[in-house]
Amino acid sequence: MTGRKFLIGGNWKMNGSKALVDTLVTGLNNATWNTDEIEVVIAPPAPYLDLVRSKAKKEVNVSAQNIYFEKKGAYTGENSSEFLKDLGINWTIIGHSERREIFKESDEVTAKKVAFALAEGLSVIACVGEKLEEREANQTTEVPSEWTNVVVAYEPVWAIGTGKVATPQQAQDVHHEIRTWLAANVSAEVAQATRILYGGSVGAKNSGELQKEVDIDGFLIGGASLTGDFVTIINTRA
Ligand code: G3P
Repeated sequence: MTGRKFLIGGNWKMNGSKALVDTLVTGLNNATWNTDEIEVVIAPPAPYLDLVRSKAKKEVNVSAQNIYFEKKGAYTGENSSEFLKDLGINWTIIGHSERREIFKESDEVTAKKVAFALAEGLSVIACVGEKLEEREANQTTEVPSEWTNVVVAYEPVWAIGTGKVATPQQAQDVHHEIRTWLAANVSAEVAQATRILYGGSVGAKNSGELQKEVDIDGFLIGGASLTGDFVTIINTRA
């Protein structure tokens, strides 16, 4: 046993409707899992955050998909940590590869957002999608000082939305490298305690094998989080 609570995350990305919220949240509200061992976090698009939070049972954590690194101001289109706290939401994803690739979010901005979100008391799923050796080369200028509320998600860009899931060994190897990096650059305690999620074409058919790997502490799931597969994946772990 690793002592790390297994986290099953669902990143809805830019997908949603009131009907889909009803379907997915009803499925989750009817599911059961041991909350001492499993943490469920779902990230709907910002317009649906309040609706999802109001309908989902308390065992379901709700997350934003991104926030800005200021509380308020002239930042058209951005989401503030204040909005999340106002809605009773205390998670956010930061640095997803789609934010980096499409919206050109740099390592520096990502690091600034992580530090800001932690300072705001939010729990963060920080995504690292490029190859680890690239990441070490472009090592961010800031490494969070407080890691208790940081979850790392490794999402190989070639596996996102492609159906090409990493093999359990491939994922385990990178997760082990990330944990080794944490031990060398932060501390042994943080390395042991930090949960590292795998994301990239996770589905009901492959989650069982992936979750057997010692350094895979959960999933960040895109497409399958929009279907009944998400509850099936929870049940596979429960
Ligand atoms: O954030 C999770 C996402 O990038 C993975 O997407 O559709 O490959 O599960 P998907």
